Amino acid sequence: MASVIYMVAQMIRHWSEVGDEVLIHTPAYDAFYKTVYGNQRQVLEMPLQRVGLEWHCDMTALAAKLARPRCKILLLCSPHNPTGKVWTAAELQQMAELCERHHVRVISDEIHMDMMVGDRPHTPWARVARGDWALFTSASKSFNLPGLTGAWGIIPQPDDRAAWFQALKNADGLSSPAVLAVAAHIAAYRHGAPWLDALRDYLRGNLILVADRLNAAFPSLNWQPPQATYLAWIDLNPLGIAEQTLQQALIQQRVAIMPGSTYGSAGQGFLRLNVGCPRSKVEDGVSRLIAAIHASSA
Ligand SMILES: Cc1ncc(COP(=O)(O)O)c(C=O)c1O
Repeated sequence: MASVIYMVAQMIRHWSEVGDEVLIHTPAYDAFYKTVYGNQRQVLEMPLQRVGLEWHCDMTALAAKLARPRCKILLLCSPHNPTGKVWTAAELQQMAELCERHHVRVISDEIHMDMMVGDRPHTPWARVARGDWALFTSASKSFNLPGLTGAWGIIPQPDDRAAWFQALKNADGLSSPAVLAVAAHIAAYRHGAPWLDALRDYLRGNLILVADRLNAAFPSLNWQPPQATYLAWIDLNPLGIAEQTLQQALIQQRVAIMPGSTYGSAGQGFLRLNVGCPRSKVEDGVSRLIAAIHASSA
């Protein structure tokens, strides 16, 4: 229990030394950068490329990065925040082989695993794993429980698990989980499936609404809903608007949307719009976003 990023951080400390490199696919969830740098490790960026409507990882480039002597960990985000990419089983298998070949351990953050809004199923790392790995996740995204805290994971190797618990319970004094979080997780997993199915349908509707409204206003964007997550990762680069100008216009419109650069330099010119909310709010937010883009282009 604790939180996913806490568990990730603990594992980074266990499996690497100060100054070692942790590889992440970029753009990346901002806490990934913070936890790597905050633990005095270095981020090794593996930029994802968009090929058509798909986000793609160049496996040859990845192999070269994994071969670097100080690259010790692949911190995988699966499904990927912010692009919403769902990794295929073949991609995951290839990454597992490369990591094993180069003695790179894998930490798979699968907190978005239930947020599948496209056709591709989620493949847990456990299904492709080789060598040393850990998987951390939570019901907090799926059932909106982050206020209770709570996460869970799989650390298959007994020595790693023992060291991890030693650090958690003794060094950090987190000897028992928050009881409400445990109860909430059990209840959500036992009884929440119909609710979750309905939620995914609702989120699909929200994402389609964003696509319809945005593409009608700015056809050159041709924005399509992601394969997973309730995050609309929108490439505004075709419109040629400076990020700061748009952020000012969004403030004028009284709508807060995360600028893409929050997720690293690969996110420059993007916006990350969260549609995990009532449809009326999405409608209002998209209208304000469209108005802000018009104002920035004027
Ligand atoms: C990929 C990813 N990991 C972890 C978290 C946060 O999890 P926690 O609050 O349990 O650390 C988020 C939240 O946005 C996330 O997107």
